[in-house]
Amino acid sequence: MPSETPAATVAAAARAASPRTPLRYLVTGAAGFIGSHTAEALLRRGECVIAVDEMNDYYSLNQKQHNIDVLMQTAASTGAELRFYRGSCEDEELMRGIFTSERIDRVCHLAARAGVRPSIKNPHMYIQANVTATVTLLELAREFGVDNFVYASSSSVYGQNAKVPFAESDRTDAPVSPYAATKKSCELMAATYNHLYGLPTIGLRFFTVYGPRGRPDMAPFMFVDRIASGKPINKFGDGSSCRDYTFIDDIVAGVLAALDSPRPKAAVFNLGNSATVSLNEFIAAIEEIVGRRAIINQMPDQPGDVPRTFADLTLASKELGYRPTTSIRDGMRKFFAWYATEYQQIKQRDEAPISPPSPPLSSHDSDFAVPMDISVSSASSVSAASAEPDRPVAAAATAAAASA
Ligand SMILES: NC(=O)c1ccc[n+]([C@@H]2O[C@H](COP(=O)([O-])OP(=O)(O)OC[C@H]3O[C@@H](n4cnc5c(N)ncnc54)[C@H](O)[C@@H]3O)[C@@H](O)[C@H]2O)c1
Repeated sequence: MPSETPAATVAAAARAASPRTPLRYLVTGAAGFIGSHTAEALLRRGECVIAVDEMNDYYSLNQKQHNIDVLMQTAASTGAELRFYRGSCEDEELMRGIFTSERIDRVCHLAARAGVRPSIKNPHMYIQANVTATVTLLELAREFGVDNFVYASSSSVYGQNAKVPFAESDRTDAPVSPYAATKKSCELMAATYNHLYGLPTIGLRFFTVYGPRGRPDMAPFMFVDRIASGKPINKFGDGSSCRDYTFIDDIVAGVLAALDSPRPKAAVFNLGNSATVSLNEFIAAIEEIVGRRAIINQMPDQPGDVPRTFADLTLASKELGYRPTTSIRDGMRKFFAWYATEYQQIKQRDEAPISPPSPPLSSHDSDFAVPMDISVSSASSVSAASAEPDRPVAAAATAAAASA
């Protein structure tokens, strides 16, 4: 049996195979669902990833820690460079420090408050986290001459669009939630920066993304979790409402294609699956995969919910070569495999009694006092995968001080 290949050998082989110097990607929201998958894919192809995330508690911090652990393992096994900064994108001082010291080539801005319903209760937070953060990054991107600015938009910008499938040229000026309005605002600001400064920008309108490491507040995760645990699910309406569910690997392929093709004019693309699934079909698929019947709580239609989302992929296919390949059954099987294994460990950590905080490791680390078992923010664990251990430690400490 050959012994395990050391990371340095893997890195050397990768360098020999590809003499190109790795590009330096700023990936925001890197501890989140789509951000962690995107950062992982970039590391796997040998790029340098500068990861930023404020690690907010919108959902399990253990899950976000798990995502960062995956990135650290990927960096260690591929020899690719990873730096993690904990902090908020709207923190201008922090982000300026990162742009100054990290020489960013391309931005992949995925950080956002992503829940639709909480945005109705807390619109100010969404403006801050989504719009202000995006404008902060756009300003820095044009000042530092970044050559591509890719950012997450959402199918929610289509509001109650009755025409299907949804095309990028359809009207998007009637959002039905503050969340959707923030996403549309980001598109407008990106187009403005492109017009004023020639900054290449690409907005990606994601359609209901699911898969391993998925968001626990979204239907694919919630339904599997409740059905698998024998708990009832709320079914809104008669089950005929349809969603265009997109598997994470397909989304990542689209994000990478956008990062790889800066274009002079501001662009916006749908990234969906273009295969709508009714709520009834979706529940039936989960029952089959989980091997359990759903207990249904029949509810009336939800006000504000749209009857159907459906992506027209003509433009993304033509311009980015985007062609999703994962069926809902295959994708949900992969999600369930993750749920039944890795997620159970995360859940155990979530349910474990909170242990008293350990003493701070240094004066900087004490700034990271957060109610979770998280080592990544201490930066020392990240710097293990970094060529220059001193800088990220110092910079991450700045991030911590700024976010404390
Ligand atoms: N998942 C979907 O189906 C979907 C659909 C449409 C659009 N989107 C968009 O895609 C992006 C990624 O979504 P996701 O599902 O991975 O969400 P997520 O919540 O898993 O990830 C977002 C991450 O960003 C971090 N974050 C939030 N605001 C921040 C800020 N201001 N500064 C730094 N970090 C911040 C959070 O801590 C989180 O880890 C978001 O912009 C979201 O609006 C997602």
